[in-house]
Amino acid sequence: MTNKLKYFVGNWKMFGDFTSFKIINKISNYFIRNLNTNNIKVILCVPNTLIYFFKQKMKSQTISLGAQNCHHYQDYGPFTGNVNAKMLKNSGANYIILGHSENRAIGESNKLIKIKIDSALKSNLTVILCIGETLKEKRSKKTFRVLKKQITSCISKNQNLSKIIIAYEPVWSIGSNKILKSEELKKIIHYIKFQYVKTFRTKKQPLVLYGGSVNEKNIKFFSPISEIDGFLIGGASQSAKKFIAIIKNYYK
Ligand code: PGA
Repeated sequence: MTNKLKYFVGNWKMFGDFTSFKIINKISNYFIRNLNTNNIKVILCVPNTLIYFFKQKMKSQTISLGAQNCHHYQDYGPFTGNVNAKMLKNSGANYIILGHSENRAIGESNKLIKIKIDSALKSNLTVILCIGETLKEKRSKKTFRVLKKQITSCISKNQNLSKIIIAYEPVWSIGSNKILKSEELKKIIHYIKFQYVKTFRTKKQPLVLYGGSVNEKNIKFFSPISEIDGFLIGGASQSAKKFIAIIKNYYK
């Protein structure tokens, strides 16, 4: 059991409608009754269509809302089907996932992600930057090289580093029910923190979350790894029961 602040971030992906408010409501009620808000931070990154609605309906602000991506352009512009960071902030988001592998897979580059981070920070959103290697990169032992490249090209020293959280999500682990061995995971989290401190010449280590197939059954595996500052949870965050069980079991 740890007293260090831990993040439990849900990534709903393309899921949910107005009736899904009941999920947030259940999580929020559980949080208010049973959890210590000084130790635990719950953030749900939901589709853009739901942010404003959920924000209005939530009675307490124990849970924060986030978005899952944005256009890189800071102002209004001719970008059909897109929304910018400022619009998301105005809808009620305080966080934003950027660089998710599902978006990298359809062409999002480190360079573009960096511009998106700049824009999100300007709009006063806290960024959850996803990094992680593919299976092919893992097999060819390129994990550290890939992570270093993603860190150094998506983040820069001039950005407000205190508003960037890193989520390490091995691409091969997302939605696959496969997770790393404990020693390997520890080594990678250390490496990310080390590389970040070195690159940006800061004394403050970044917060590093783990994401990829986290569920109520395997969460206990992560409890002893104190280096992990929290979790980015996809599929299992779409159910209040599972999400609550993840938090409960983590501290069991
Ligand atoms: P998963 O997704 O928990 O369903 O593996 C994690 C993510 O994509 O952020």
